[in-house]
Amino acid sequence: MIRIEPKKRISGEIKVNGDKSISHRALIFSAMSKGYSEIENLSSAGDCYSTVKCLVKLGVEIEMGKTIRILGKGLGGFKEPEDILDVENSGTTIRLISGLLAGQPFFSVITGDSSLRRRPVDRVIIPLSLMGAEFWSRGNNKFPPVAVKGRYPLKPVSYELPVASAQVKSAIIIAGLFTDGKSSITEPLPSRDHTERLLPAFGAKIEKNGNTVTVYGGQELEGQKIYIPGDFSSASFFMVAGLIVPESEILIKDVGLNPGRIGLLGVIERMGGDIEVYHKKDMLNEPVGDILVRSSSLRGTVVKRDEIPILIDEVPLIAVLGAFAEGETVVNGAEELRVKESDRIKAIVTEFKKLKVDIEEMPDGFIIRGPSVPEGGRVESYNDHRIAMALAIAGLASKGPVEINNEGCVVISFPDFWDILNGL
Ligand code: S3P
Repeated sequence: MIRIEPKKRISGEIKVNGDKSISHRALIFSAMSKGYSEIENLSSAGDCYSTVKCLVKLGVEIEMGKTIRILGKGLGGFKEPEDILDVENSGTTIRLISGLLAGQPFFSVITGDSSLRRRPVDRVIIPLSLMGAEFWSRGNNKFPPVAVKGRYPLKPVSYELPVASAQVKSAIIIAGLFTDGKSSITEPLPSRDHTERLLPAFGAKIEKNGNTVTVYGGQELEGQKIYIPGDFSSASFFMVAGLIVPESEILIKDVGLNPGRIGLLGVIERMGGDIEVYHKKDMLNEPVGDILVRSSSLRGTVVKRDEIPILIDEVPLIAVLGAFAEGETVVNGAEELRVKESDRIKAIVTEFKKLKVDIEEMPDGFIIRGPSVPEGGRVESYNDHRIAMALAIAGLASKGPVEINNEGCVVISFPDFWDILNGL
C-alpha cells in the first residue's frame, strides 16, 4: 500500500523513461535484422523485459546494459523455443510476437499472467490465419494461451481491422514481411504509427495512404543504432499533476510526440489547461520535444469515439482532469478500455466513487459532473499500472490522503514513477 498526501504545490524539471511502444518494436526489429543493433534509452518497463525474454527463447542474443546490443537473426534464423513463451502482463508482446511467429515454420506456445489471459487474441489470430499460419487457443480461439504453427512464406493479405489497434496493425505488418507479395492493412481510425516510422529506419519500405498501410514481403532488415525518445504516456501523468495541483509548474524534457499518441494535448487545451509544447527535433522519424505545464482552472469537455485511439492509454487521466474541471466531462466510444490490463472503465468508476467523485459509468465510457474533488480514501489498483498511477495523481490534489493497494504494478510501464513523484 502507498499513501499519497495532497500537495500545496509541485514543481520541477523531469525526464521520463524511454517510450515503451517504440522499445518493443526496436527489440523485435533488431532481432529480425541481419547484424548487430544497439539500442539506447530502452524503456525500463517490465513489459519490454517480457519481449526481451521471449526473443532470447527464440535464440536471439541480447546483451543488456545501458546500451542494449542485439545480434539479429535475419527473417528466418529464429529457433523453435524449447519452452512456453511467457509474455507476463504485456499485450503488446503477445500481439507483435504473434506476427513474428506466424512467419516461422515451427511450433510455439505463448501465455501470460491472469490479466493477459483475459485479453482477446482473436483480433490477431483471424488475420494471421488468413495469411496461412495455424493457431489454437482457449475459448474458441479467443484467449491465451495460444499455440502457433507458423509457415514461410506466408500469403499476402488485404485486411480491414474492425477496431483501430496499433498492436494488431503491427502484427500484420510484421507478418507481411514474411510473405512473397504485397499486404495492405486498413484501420477504421488512425492509431499510433511507430511501426510504420521505425521499420524504414531498418531499411524496409512501407507505404502509407490515408488509413491504409502497405508492406512488401521478402525485404531483409539491417541492424541499426537507435535512441528511444521519452514516453508520452508516462509524461502524461506528470502533465495532469502539474495542471491539478495549485501553483505548480513542471517541465518534461525530450518526450516523443507521435501524432498517434498525443490526443491528450488536444483535450487539455479544450479544458483550458496551460500547456506549452516545444517541438525540438525528429528522432527516427518521430517528433520529440519538451512539455511545460502550469496549474490551471479547467472546464469539462466531451471526448468522442474518433479521438480514442490517439489517447487510448490516457483515458484514466481524463477522468482525473474531469474531477477537477467545472462542468461535465464525458468520454464516449472507449469500450476498448474494457479489454486492457483491467476493465479500465469499471476500475476508474468504482475507485472514483469510493473517493466520492460524481462519476457515472456508461457501456463505452463515463460522465463526471465536476468539480467533484476526490475525498481521501483507500483504493485498489486492480494490478493495473495505469490505474495505480492515475489514482496517485488524483491523490496529489485530493481533500485527504489517498491510499493505493498493490501499487507495485507501476513497474509494468514506469518503474521510476514513485521516485520522480517524490522528487517533485
Ligand atoms: C500499443 C497500442 C495500444 C496501447 C498499448 C500499446 C502499442 O493498444 O493501448 O498500451 O504499442 O502498439 P491497442 O493497439 O490494442 O489499442
